[in-house]
Amino acid sequence: MAKITFITQEDEQITVEGNSGSLMELAVEHNIKGIDGDCGGVCSCATCHVHVEPVFMETVGEPNDIEKDMLEFDDNYNEYSRLTCQIQISDALNGLVVKVAN
Ligand code: FES
Repeated sequence: MAKITFITQEDEQITVEGNSGSLMELAVEHNIKGIDGDCGGVCSCATCHVHVEPVFMETVGEPNDIEKDMLEFDDNYNEYSRLTCQIQISDALNGLVVKVAN
């Protein structure tokens, strides 16, 4: 079980709990504004883009090359960018905070 906090573009903080699946699926399930997951999680739309709080970046890890290529097309790309469909929920992510980038 991991508690994950999403911060929307309007600075609303929403903390939800998840056990499995991707962070994108968790966000969509809880109607987190700005996370749409249009491509269904196959790393081809970037509508699930977040900025990971810097302190959690090591735990979450860097994007792979395919994800990075996708992210670099997005105007809001920075060094803390990740696509939530590419992050699998595990206990290690407990306490994670991400900010919606869209
Ligand atoms: S849901 Fe499309 S890239 Fe993540």
